[in-house]
Amino acid sequence: MVISIDSPLDMHLHLRDGRMLDIVAPLSAETFAGGMVMPNLVPPVTSREDVRSYRKRILKAQGDERFVPYMTLFFRSDYTPEFLHSVKDEILAIKLYPAGITTNSEGGVKGFDIEELSPVLGVMSDLKIPLCVHGETGGFVMDREAEFIPIYEMLAKNFPDLTIVMEHITTKEAVAALDRYDNLYATITLHHLYITLDEVAGGLLQPHLFCKPIAKRPEDRDALSNVALNAHPKVMFGSDSAPHPREKKEAPGCAAGVFTAPIALPALAQLFERNGALDNLQAFVSDNARRIYGIEPIEKEVVLENSPYLVPEIYEGTVVPMFAGQTISWRVLSVG
Ligand code: NCD
Ligand code: ZN
Repeated sequence: MVISIDSPLDMHLHLRDGRMLDIVAPLSAETFAGGMVMPNLVPPVTSREDVRSYRKRILKAQGDERFVPYMTLFFRSDYTPEFLHSVKDEILAIKLYPAGITTNSEGGVKGFDIEELSPVLGVMSDLKIPLCVHGETGGFVMDREAEFIPIYEMLAKNFPDLTIVMEHITTKEAVAALDRYDNLYATITLHHLYITLDEVAGGLLQPHLFCKPIAKRPEDRDALSNVALNAHPKVMFGSDSAPHPREKKEAPGCAAGVFTAPIALPALAQLFERNGALDNLQAFVSDNARRIYGIEPIEKEVVLENSPYLVPEIYEGTVVPMFAGQTISWRVLSVG
């Protein structure tokens, strides 16, 4: 069997910088038409110059592949209205991280004081700049996302015209919140559709499946699968592909992040086929994002075939993908 996906989009992607950027950018650009690039570099992307120069480095790294990096800024509550006006045409969204909650988020928001956040959120709402949020509190690791839901609700209520994207949701509580507010949307990763905490830590510890937010319970994964496989109109694919060098993963103090970009489309096809939902894959990996973000991606037709694909053990001797050394039942046949 063969299926064709029209301009697949990855709406949450870490491309890093330097050598890692050179390794991973071509891998995303090979099969995706575009991706929303996260700003958590060191230091983070916080100025127009940062956005422009990072975009240039991405375009250089992706080489001849046709791929649109949709740029983001790292949220700061001291951005001025003038700055936001000046940068709005060069970014697709602004990403808010609670301080210290994940990789390179030390400069994020401390506490969620609406007085402090309101000036920037108000201007974003007026300028139609979406807000993407890493929604976790500093609580017990399994409860962090569910505990954050009241903050999402507070933001959604106070800024009804602001598009708010709950990034990489992992819980049934986040899925339930989606339908309570018109302006709440979500991205869902590949790995959170496949795994629970059992795959991460139920047997021998699997560092390459360790990420933030941590994978949760079977009922959470079921809730995510339900909306993704049915192509709920408010959910989009965002891989949260987050490469770290192998020595940072296979180490005490393992870095958080699962590297999935190069295998994402075959693995999604496998999952959607197993669940009799292949007809909904186009909406999940492209159409919903186009509508939610109001973007028209470049044309790129990716043809997938259900034949065995052996996932590489490692890319460039540096970064280990999800399903390393395993066989997936779909592969990319052609990209046109
Ligand atoms: C991401 C990273 O490594 O940049 N890590 C992760 O576990 N997902 C950051 C993030 O999206 O939380
Ligand atoms: Zn991320």
